[in-house]
Amino acid sequence: MKNFEFKNPTKIIFGKGEIQKIAAEIPADAKVLLLYGGGSIKKNGIYEQVKTALKDFEVEEFGGIPANPEYAILMQALEVIKEKEITFLLAVGGGSVLDGTKFLSSAAEYTGDNPWDILDKKIRTLKGMPFGTVLTLPATGSEMNSGAVITRAETKQKLVMGGPGLFPVFSILDPTVVRSIPERQIANGLADAFTHVLEQYMTYPVGALLQDRIAESILQTLIEVAPVILKDPTDYKAASNFMWSCTMALNGLIQKGVPTDWAIHMMGHELTALYGIDHARTLAILAGSHYTYNLETKKEKLAQYANRVWGVREGSMEERAKIGIEKTVAFFHSIGIKTKLSEYTKDYQGTGSEIARRLTERGMIALGEHGTLTPSDAEKIVELAY
Ligand code: NZQ
Ligand code: ZN
Repeated sequence: MKNFEFKNPTKIIFGKGEIQKIAAEIPADAKVLLLYGGGSIKKNGIYEQVKTALKDFEVEEFGGIPANPEYAILMQALEVIKEKEITFLLAVGGGSVLDGTKFLSSAAEYTGDNPWDILDKKIRTLKGMPFGTVLTLPATGSEMNSGAVITRAETKQKLVMGGPGLFPVFSILDPTVVRSIPERQIANGLADAFTHVLEQYMTYPVGALLQDRIAESILQTLIEVAPVILKDPTDYKAASNFMWSCTMALNGLIQKGVPTDWAIHMMGHELTALYGIDHARTLAILAGSHYTYNLETKKEKLAQYANRVWGVREGSMEERAKIGIEKTVAFFHSIGIKTKLSEYTKDYQGTGSEIARRLTERGMIALGEHGTLTPSDAEKIVELAY
């Protein structure tokens, strides 16, 4: 196991009916900005619950943060924060609203001229404006981590940011919110969380027995709940296990002491920037080809995964590893997610070289757990996914 440090300061409040507890978590004299997305919270009752809980606070609102949170819209929210002298942010939504709020938390305290530099120049946020979240869509893990991904449509960019100042102060996880989530977004949540675990697991063995087993158990839980929650999003047992699995998949715990990959995400973000494909679907497109291309360096973990997660006991290590890849692709299909780029866009020719060009431009020339994947390798991986 590698050396590590672990600190996660986010308070989780989990369970049915817990949204009312936000009042006790926000400083009494706070001036709150309530941030939300395209309006789903007004249809499913979450908005009313939040407003009731905030009845004793001074509250401003900013709605309309789109999926793949857009920089230009967030800059409007930043104006509101400054004008109304906001002191606390409350994100109510999925990963996009939470990530947008993280950008605002950082930008509100940023003293440089251009907030885009936080993303473009990779400025880590050591201190942001405090914020809490009410999660409405299990998927990204943003509710308990310090990362965010922001889109700029004008330049077709989708860039990551983060830093120890960007953990939510608290996050409310009420699994009953899953009820109103459309099937497509539930499938996205399952695929995103599944791939988060894979990115921190499918590398090479370092004797981290516990991290491996926690990762495998999150995968097994997602596999078990997937058909149940897709069929019946009101099933509380499935919803609560789905929600907690998504949080645990990316709250930092399973990546401690182990090598991590994240190449699928780095290439996937470019597919969203280029074609607007849902984040989770870009991962499903790339996972099979990434693991096939890197079979040699990942085969021990792939075989372990095939054995422990999918019960594949027969065959050589390489044979089991290949079955592990097939099982992964079949899992995405089983939740209704297509895994070929050509099934999402007719314009796929040339995507591999365009992604290689973009990665080079950003200096992302050494991807993967060994830092050996070049843009030219990324080009071939993307081409395998056509
Ligand atoms: O905008 P509204 O109207 O709220 O509707 C949303 C949106 O259309 C809807 N939705 C959310 N909760 C709902 C609901 N509809 C009905 N009932 C509910 N309870 O779902 C749609 C998608 O929402 P979005 O927030 O975009 O989805 P998700 O949570 O999958 O977030 C995706 C974003 O997170 C980033 C992705 O890149 C993408 O931009 N990621 C963030 C990460 C992080 N911060 O750690 C890691 C991830 O790898 C990922 O990159
Ligand atoms: Zn993801």
